[in-house]
Amino acid sequence: MKYVAILGCGVVGSGTAELLTKNADEIRRRTGAELALKYILVRRDKESPYRDKFVTDFAVIENDPEVSIVAECIGGVGDALDYCRRALKAGKSLVTSNKELVAKHGLELAKIAGEKGVSFLFEGAVGGGIPALRPIQLCLSANRLSEAMGVVNGTTNYILTAMEKSGAAFADALATAQQLGYAEADPSADILGWDAGRKAAILAGLSFGTFVDVEKVPMEGITSIAIEDMRAAKALGRRIKLIGRAIRVGDGVSVCCAPHLLPLSSSLASLEGVLNGVVIRGDGVGEVFLSGPGAGSLATGSAVAGDIADAALTVRAPGWEKAETFIDPDELPCRWYVRCQADEHAIRAALPEAECPLDHPGVFLTPELSRKALNAVIEPLQPVNVFRLLD
Ligand code: HSE
Repeated sequence: MKYVAILGCGVVGSGTAELLTKNADEIRRRTGAELALKYILVRRDKESPYRDKFVTDFAVIENDPEVSIVAECIGGVGDALDYCRRALKAGKSLVTSNKELVAKHGLELAKIAGEKGVSFLFEGAVGGGIPALRPIQLCLSANRLSEAMGVVNGTTNYILTAMEKSGAAFADALATAQQLGYAEADPSADILGWDAGRKAAILAGLSFGTFVDVEKVPMEGITSIAIEDMRAAKALGRRIKLIGRAIRVGDGVSVCCAPHLLPLSSSLASLEGVLNGVVIRGDGVGEVFLSGPGAGSLATGSAVAGDIADAALTVRAPGWEKAETFIDPDELPCRWYVRCQADEHAIRAALPEAECPLDHPGVFLTPELSRKALNAVIEPLQPVNVFRLLD
């Protein structure tokens, strides 16, 4: 029997507790792992079906030799980071779905896990309920991966879908996403692209084996996307999605998070609501697409509980080194969608190769240009919005 402690009993903690207890036999029959939930760390007592497991002092968990797996479901990098360090140092395997924690402190935590010979697993940190990381770490480990990218924030995808499908106002769609438990405690992290940017950095770390300094990752959210851009994208046979993208460039790594215009026919463009999806490209397998619910109590709890079962069976932690070369994504040439305040004549004067395929004043597509080159071209055109194209 392996004894488990969950830290936090909010959206993810309660979903994890529910699946661990309700489906304990299922987990045992399918994996052989015998798991028992012993403690749930809470800040204060409250009504809950798991109240008999509640403790308020982390030291109880830290000092209980019977507990071998700790699942951090608190969020943020305050108490959560302190408890994670202490759990690993006490020789317990650590499971978390905390993107901020892994993106900012994963290198240190992986190092402690390696020294202690315990697991450090975070499947729920990218793509919520989608098993996206274990395929990268294990099933596709014989591939040299060139790219991992996706729609990796459920809140923003929910908002964009609601705006596009039903003309919902941004604030109303965000409020619903919050009620459904998709959004971060401070939803700025969702709508400003930080959450998806952190997830892209984690994808890079696992895909390329080097830990990316998340501070270097340019992150742009969805607040600038207007209904006009959505309409123009549709007329172009495209849809706007917030994409977190990790690319291998020679021996370097490039990571970004920004809105992109995708062809309607692409897998990622088809994702609606809270659905997330990840595309992985490798030299053996070619392209793999994984999709599923990117947020929510039971969906993320499913990933956390799966990691707990894994930690009960084996030892697994990333053997990360710090990434040596980070390539600024703005240096990489790509095609751009631009909406500006200038007319077609001025656009063509500034960029003769511009495509103005629509009856949308001020909207044009560029040939491949770096961001710097693009900025120089469009500066006199009074640009309103600029998004990358993906094919
Ligand atoms: N706020 C996150 C999202 C939760 O909306 O995707 C899951 O990581």
